[in-house]
Amino acid sequence: MFNKRQKVSYKYSDQTMCVIGPQYDGECKLDSNEILWEKGEFSRAPLHNYDQKTATFEFPSLEIGGFGFQSITDFEKIAKKKKVSGYPFGAKNLYARVGLPQNEKLAAIISYLERVPGGVVTPSGVSASHLAVLFNLPKDGVILHSSPIYDCTRAAHEHIFSKYNIKSISSDFLDPQKLEEDIKKYKPYKLYCESPANPTMMMIDLPKIYDLAVKYGIKELIIDNTFASPIIQKPVEIVKGDPHKILRIVHSGTKHFTGGLDGVCWGYCSLIDWKEFSQMLIFQKDMGYNMSGIDADAVLHHGIPTLYSRVREQSKTALEIAEFLQKHSCVKFVNYPGLAPFKKSADKYYTGEGYGSILYFELNEKKIGKNQKEALQASEAFGDIIALQSFIGLGVSLGKMHTLIQNSWFMVHRFMSEENKVKVGISPYGWRIAVGAENSKDLIHDLSLVMELMKDENYRKKIQKYKKEIGKPEF
Ligand SMILES: Cc1ncc(COP(=O)(O)O)c(C=O)c1O
Repeated sequence: MFNKRQKVSYKYSDQTMCVIGPQYDGECKLDSNEILWEKGEFSRAPLHNYDQKTATFEFPSLEIGGFGFQSITDFEKIAKKKKVSGYPFGAKNLYARVGLPQNEKLAAIISYLERVPGGVVTPSGVSASHLAVLFNLPKDGVILHSSPIYDCTRAAHEHIFSKYNIKSISSDFLDPQKLEEDIKKYKPYKLYCESPANPTMMMIDLPKIYDLAVKYGIKELIIDNTFASPIIQKPVEIVKGDPHKILRIVHSGTKHFTGGLDGVCWGYCSLIDWKEFSQMLIFQKDMGYNMSGIDADAVLHHGIPTLYSRVREQSKTALEIAEFLQKHSCVKFVNYPGLAPFKKSADKYYTGEGYGSILYFELNEKKIGKNQKEALQASEAFGDIIALQSFIGLGVSLGKMHTLIQNSWFMVHRFMSEENKVKVGISPYGWRIAVGAENSKDLIHDLSLVMELMKDENYRKKIQKYKKEIGKPEF
């Protein structure tokens, strides 16, 4: 239908792109939020190869394994970065971890959804985060990171990187004035943040932080967009296309992209500029931050085509739960992008496809106990009853299709100092819910029941007794 090399510009909706998948031959670029196919025949580029005769979809074999060379001269040519099958760096199948077509396709899809020039997929969200931090970081390059933040990220920045003289300092990204003071003081090379933040769901004013980064010549602004997903929030669009080319997006693929695939864990790190691609691949190869091709294949078949529908549906459920909690007498406040005071900013910057599937709320200590001791017991009992009496899980992960609840004071952020937890708004009464694919009525039913049971002193005693004993509780 189209001539080769003819530029074709058309923007499919994200929903359709999640099903058909964007073309990716190492040459396609994103421009003005539209894909420009600069090379090759334009086609609908299905996620998997489509066989017209049998009407089946399949993907080329994983091509895992070493590349066979004809001679040492052959290898030398490749080492001089001659292209192999259009692959932009050296030999495509040099090792089992390099050049897997499934991984490239998966990275292309997330890059399309994020409106970035490209990216790579990694074995976990945490490794994607490390890749983003370490790639391009000069010796003595300083990082400022937001707080609160996913606690393994915090631990890496504050305790691990520091051992190797990589200085990452916690700063207040919710207060641009304070952040500006820190920028002047520490002259960071990179800024690193999450928005909404784990666990408190605080939303950072991304355009303001972006402008500050540009003003002070900061080379990279890394944003962990896991909580929202690109279906809900596209940071590149929020900062009007990233004209200064400083935005790097990272993701844990484990929650939204993967869907219900148990045992599949992965992450994504974007390129700021297409020119980085070869260097990023080499860095990734040398550090071993490569996702399994078999996992990528499973995500392409199951996670991505259902992504859009899942995120929208889970967002609707999360909004219903947030509204229920907000009206509940035992709840002090709910932090959720779909509720005031966050809604104004979400309506301005989000894509309009919902407000996300994660929320944070705080129990009202005055309503759940006669004194602080009793209130603390009640908050702890809330988690125990969730675990014992509800189909909702008590768990620190984001839960995929299964709703999970966790309390950062006692659980994920347990190893952060109490002083710092208080400073960033993490309280013993605060609970994060990662909403799954269950029916909202069932979730609200169980939450409501647990709130009642939590306040009942006799019930709490039974729970305590059970926790001390081994055996089945008699409720
Ligand atoms: C915001 C955020 N980023 C990254 C991660 C790490 O992801 P993974 O478990 O895929 O390594 C998590 C995990 O919960 C997270 O909440």
